[in-house]
Amino acid sequence: YPIFKPKQESWSFSGPFGTYDKGQLQRGLKVYKEVCAACHSLEFVSFRTLSDLGYSEDQVKSFAAEYEVQDGPNADGEMFDRKAVATDYFPSPFPNAQAAAAANNGAAPPDLSLIAKARAAERGFPTFIFDIFTQYAEAGPDYIYSLLTGYSAKPPAGMEIPEGTHYNPYFLSAKSLAMASPLSDDVVTYDDGSPQTVQQYAHDVSAFLMWAAEPHLEQRKKVGFRVMVFLALFAGLVYIAKRQIFAQLK
Ligand code: HEM
Repeated sequence: YPIFKPKQESWSFSGPFGTYDKGQLQRGLKVYKEVCAACHSLEFVSFRTLSDLGYSEDQVKSFAAEYEVQDGPNADGEMFDRKAVATDYFPSPFPNAQAAAAANNGAAPPDLSLIAKARAAERGFPTFIFDIFTQYAEAGPDYIYSLLTGYSAKPPAGMEIPEGTHYNPYFLSAKSLAMASPLSDDVVTYDDGSPQTVQQYAHDVSAFLMWAAEPHLEQRKKVGFRVMVFLALFAGLVYIAKRQIFAQLK
C-alpha cells in the first residue's frame, strides 16, 4: 500500500528570511492546549518561553497556573501535585508511559516537543542532507499538517485495519495509527476571526510545533545571512590581498 508524500504547504517561516507569525503561533498554542494536550506532552517546552509568542509575564504566569505538575519529594519523601509556574514544562496528561499506552490501545502518544524536527528527517537519505543546503526546514510541519488533514482518505480495498487504529495514508511506519482524527471544524474558538476549519487548525498547530522544536529559527536565519554577507566580503578581501602579494612575483 502506498504511503503518501506530505503535501508541501506554504509557511511564514520558510526561506532564508522567514519569520514566525505570532498570531498563528498563538492560535496554534490554543489548538495544542484545547485538543492535543489531552494526550500529548511538550516536556522540553517551558511556559516561560511562551513570551516569544508575544505574551506578557503575567499572561504566561496565569497560563501556567492552569496546569498541575508533580513536584517533590517533600520532607516526608512524598511526591505531590502543585500549580505550575512559568519555569515548569508542559506536562503529560498521563502519570507515566504505561498509563499513556494503556489509554491509547497500547501506543503511547509521543512527546511533541521535537516532533517537527524528528519527522523532517523521515524524508530519507539523501534528501534530508540536501534540505540542509536548500534551507528546506518545513518537511516536519508539512508532515504534521498532512497527517492531521489526511484522515478522510479511504483505505485501499482489501487492506486490514487493526482494531483501535485509524487509516491515514500519510502516517510513516504503518498505514493506520492509534490516534483518531483529533480535529474537526469549530472545535476551537478563535478570537481573531480566522476560519475555524480543520485545515486552519492543522496549519496553526503545525507552525506552533515548529516553533516548539526550533524556537531560535529567526535568530539562526538572521545570523546565517550576516555570516554569508561577511564571508562574501571576506572572500573578496582575500582575493585582493592575494593579487597584491603575488603581483611582485610574476
Ligand atoms: C501520534 C500530533 C492530538 C493520541 C501523534 C503524532 C503526531 C501527533 C505528530 C506522531 C505520528 C508519527 O509517529 O509520525 C497530534 C496533534 C494533535 C494530536 C498535533 C492535536 C491537534 C491527539 C489526541 C490524542 C492523540 C487528542 C488522544 C485522543 C496519539 C497517539 C499517537 C499519536 C496514541 C501514537 C500513534 C501510533 O503510534 O500509533 N500525534 N496529536 N493525539 N497521537 Fe496525536
